[in-house]
Amino acid sequence: MKPLVFFLPGQEDLAAKLTTHLDGEPGNVVTHSFPDGETYLRVASACRGREVVLLQSLDHPNKKILPLLLLGETLRDLGANRIRLVCPYLSYMRQDKQFQPGEGVTSRYFAKLVSTYFDGLLTMNPHLHRYHSLSEIYSIPSEAADAGPDLAKWIKSFIKNPVLIGPDGESEQWVANIAGKIQAPYRVAKKERWGDREVRVSMPDLTAFRDHHPVLIDDIISTGHTLIQAVAAIQEQGLEAPICLGIHALFAPGAEENLKRSGVQRVVTTNTIAHSTNGIDISETLARSLRNF
Ligand code: R5P
Repeated sequence: MKPLVFFLPGQEDLAAKLTTHLDGEPGNVVTHSFPDGETYLRVASACRGREVVLLQSLDHPNKKILPLLLLGETLRDLGANRIRLVCPYLSYMRQDKQFQPGEGVTSRYFAKLVSTYFDGLLTMNPHLHRYHSLSEIYSIPSEAADAGPDLAKWIKSFIKNPVLIGPDGESEQWVANIAGKIQAPYRVAKKERWGDREVRVSMPDLTAFRDHHPVLIDDIISTGHTLIQAVAAIQEQGLEAPICLGIHALFAPGAEENLKRSGVQRVVTTNTIAHSTNGIDISETLARSLRNF
């Protein structure tokens, strides 16, 4: 039987694409926000015994998580057979250790919460830095799809003679992978961070690549400061303005404008989070990963 694909408002475009690639059936849920801010939900599709996929990217997670858990519980009460959460952007992955005394390791608490409500989790390029895999913190079956091949395909189609650049050590994992797929050279910078918007990016020597087209690649674009610093450091070495590729277009207020003002040539992101910079569709990759999951 075809899986039923549910989503909450805001995911319409990706949900339609994912449903098509999965050969699924769109689930119907009616939502309403009461004047006091509570959420009303009514599932209008018969889901007893059905395989359910619940799509929800968790950017701005605090306001999304409760309606999502309520929908998960409603589907379970209505007899859904297996409920898997497809979360193209998975939040709360960056607080993966206690950096200061008194802090909580919120990635663990968030994982515990999600693991209580769903039977499986599929996400895309989660921010795995100090954790090696999702299973270190998620107790349900979990899988991380990789947007790398989609990024590689985009670069191959649109950029001649690219040099790929990662803005920090964490980025090496996906930059090296993408470079290998398209036989392009790559380099990785070093980043120091003092605060949300205080970062310094030191580039390795790029002068041998002055005739290349620089492509900066990061997993998350949030305040944009990592990429802004990286763009400046690349241009200081006499290379042309880079193109910035991001997997998750979080874009904090003002980030897009600041990034565009930094002299970047173009910013292109995947549609794990709906945003005006989306130019790389990952829905087919997500569907393939879900089928193999
Ligand atoms: C952090 O290590 C990530 O890979 C990104 O580089 C970071 O989240 C980007 O954040 P921002 O855009 O705020 O500099």
